[in-house]
Amino acid sequence: MKLLICDHEGNLVELNDVSEPTLMLAIRGAGLNLTAQCGGCASCGTCHVYVDDAWQGKLKPASDSEDAMLDVVEQRRENSRLSCQIELTKDLDGLTVILAPGSEFA
Ligand code: FES
Repeated sequence: MKLLICDHEGNLVELNDVSEPTLMLAIRGAGLNLTAQCGGCASCGTCHVYVDDAWQGKLKPASDSEDAMLDVVEQRRENSRLSCQIELTKDLDGLTVILAPGSEFA
């Protein structure tokens, strides 16, 4: 599957042949700058991304724990998600996200 990631510098990076189970692992696996400090437990908020509007309806809603974590991230928006909580299923082929402020390595 393919993903399009807009990095913290505004570059659009295309990831092809992605096979990782979650968006966070795919972004990290490609060597992009994403802290993801807790390793995917929805407890750090440093894997925060903004999901392109066209993809909003294809994602499962955030769980209560994801929603609570998003309440404390920097600059939450309506399209904010934790990339570690997005499972990469076939219907997300082409998913496009922006790496949010505060998710880069300090
Ligand atoms: S990696 Fe920590 S919340 Fe996603």
